[in-house]
Amino acid sequence: MKKKTTITSLLARKGKEPVSCLTAYDYTSAAIIDRAGIDMILIGDSLAMVMQGRDETLGVTLDEIIYHTKLVKRGAVSAFVMADIPFGALNSPDAGVDSCVRVIKETGADAVKIEGYSANIQEVIRRVTELGINVCSHIGLMPQFVSSMGGYRIQGYENGDELMKQAKDLEAAGAKIIVLEGVELNCAKTITAETSMLTIGIGAGVHCDGQVLVYHDVFGLYGELMPKFVKRYAEAGAVIEDAAKRYIEDVKNRVFPDMDHSYMKK
Ligand code: KIV
Repeated sequence: MKKKTTITSLLARKGKEPVSCLTAYDYTSAAIIDRAGIDMILIGDSLAMVMQGRDETLGVTLDEIIYHTKLVKRGAVSAFVMADIPFGALNSPDAGVDSCVRVIKETGADAVKIEGYSANIQEVIRRVTELGINVCSHIGLMPQFVSSMGGYRIQGYENGDELMKQAKDLEAAGAKIIVLEGVELNCAKTITAETSMLTIGIGAGVHCDGQVLVYHDVFGLYGELMPKFVKRYAEAGAVIEDAAKRYIEDVKNRVFPDMDHSYMKK
């Protein structure tokens, strides 16, 4: 059996061996990708879209993240588990610290992921790091800030220096891992080379220390139109839909249940 992945074993791979990460939101999915050997599992606020059918991520609550993280933890035997701190759970440094402590205490996650780089967020990172909590930052395209950023736009074309500064500040605050979402390839390369943080890319090119994608995107369970950075490895949605149609037909036509699937007193 694969050994438990820890922050130490992950950081030791920087510059040596790329790290794989997928999102998951429930026990069964987590157990499948854990058995496959995934290094990290993220309970992302993307659950708003793929689990709850919302249009964006802002509606997810801390209680919902905690609920889904508990389910994932039961399936993740060796993967490193990170829980997203959702929009509205970091409104002040004190509230942010309380949110992170609650997530770790109630779920047993290995790290929290915090989107953004404001002074408040840096203070939260400093304080929870002091408490022994591993923090994964998240910059670039930040869905929690979609409104103020003016939409889902790739970052780092004109503001590469600003992203580098944000990364350095978050590293100084204590973040050990950083998600770079929707970041121009050379900007992500520089952040990867010039910080000690493990960079986990999503739409951030080929030079990051690792890669994260959303479970439902990778396995073909959600949406028809895929952004350029997503690669589909299965069409599981189509497989399930086809199986469901065959089941419905069998029930309608009294093909199932048959005697092989029935109990009869001998
Ligand atoms: O919520 C999420 O799933 C994420 C990843 C896409 C990085 O933040």
